Amino acid sequence: MQNHKGQRKKISIIGAGNVGASAALWIASKGLGDVVLVDIVEGLPQGKALDLGQALPVLGQNDSVTGSNRYDETKDSDVVVITAGKIRTADMTREDLYNDNAKILTNVLAQVCKASPNSILIIVTNPLDVMVHLALQQTGFPRQRVMGMAGCLDSTRLRYFIAQELCVSPTDVHAIVIGSHNEDMVPVISSATVNGKPVEKLLSKEKIVKAVEATRHAGKAFLPLMKTTAYVAPGIAIAEMVEAIVSDKQSILPVSTFLDGEYGQRGVVIGVPCVLGKKGIDRVVELPLTKEERAQFEKCCEDVKSLIKQYEGNK
Ligand code: NAI
Ligand code: 2OP
Repeated sequence: MQNHKGQRKKISIIGAGNVGASAALWIASKGLGDVVLVDIVEGLPQGKALDLGQALPVLGQNDSVTGSNRYDETKDSDVVVITAGKIRTADMTREDLYNDNAKILTNVLAQVCKASPNSILIIVTNPLDVMVHLALQQTGFPRQRVMGMAGCLDSTRLRYFIAQELCVSPTDVHAIVIGSHNEDMVPVISSATVNGKPVEKLLSKEKIVKAVEATRHAGKAFLPLMKTTAYVAPGIAIAEMVEAIVSDKQSILPVSTFLDGEYGQRGVVIGVPCVLGKKGIDRVVELPLTKEERAQFEKCCEDVKSLIKQYEGNK
């Protein structure tokens, strides 16, 4: 992928842990641009970059992959993905990560702003919607250039669980999740389809509830299994967003964004479908929602607002 100067796109990933490295792999395998991995742990981003670089010949890609503990190499990135941060343990919610991760994000953003003032930011660090709010405040970037990844992950999970219930290919299932990235998220079943047929006509209420509950609780299911949270599906969900931006695809994807009147909400960061292209978020798409879905969505907005008030009050 080339930028407007005819050079290859530069995609920096801050946080070379599980999710950062997985995102790097998917981004490199799609040939979306040169990848720079940054981490505070010495040697880690360099090692991960070396390993990924050695896969490029077989992947059939020739973009470069670099690892660093500094931001010089990230200079003038087109897209910066932030995956730096702590993960939760089994007894924690994502919201419990706020204190630690707000400090990490603040530190990272200061350096990203200096190195790449015109970049498009994709925040991944949890608690997601609150971190996107913090990033908007700290950077002063327009809302088009600051977004969060969670809806793409929650939506691919919902598609997977519906496909499991129906024994069909997950690629035939189209479904979207909006709202906050926690167990109150809103799987929009009223518009979910399988090859154009409404899911509500194909699945019993019980099976829909099963798929919805599995989606809501998917994030914490990994902790007892592998003592860490998911990274393969999160990595490809990040790559899906990066691809839409660097290829100017105008794809409609659910991302965490600042609402300015859309969905009747103003001044809250929350997951909704947006058109993504070369400028970042081109526009918010308003989905028809049932009364129940709208009430669930409004609760998510109120919860994010009160979390921010609570965190800001504790400063
Ligand atoms: P991880 O522990 O594997 O990696 C985190 C990396 O961040 C570590 O390598 C660490 O050294 C690095 N780091 C910490 N402070 C840093 C700093 N100041 N500058 C640069 N690097 C720094 O964790 P994992 O699994 O990669 O998750 C990362 C974050 O992403 C977590 O907060 C997790 O909750 C979140 N997450 C969010 C998802 C979403 O859908 N929004 C999905 C999956 C994870
Ligand atoms: C997830 O949902 C940890 O938020 C992350 O997998």
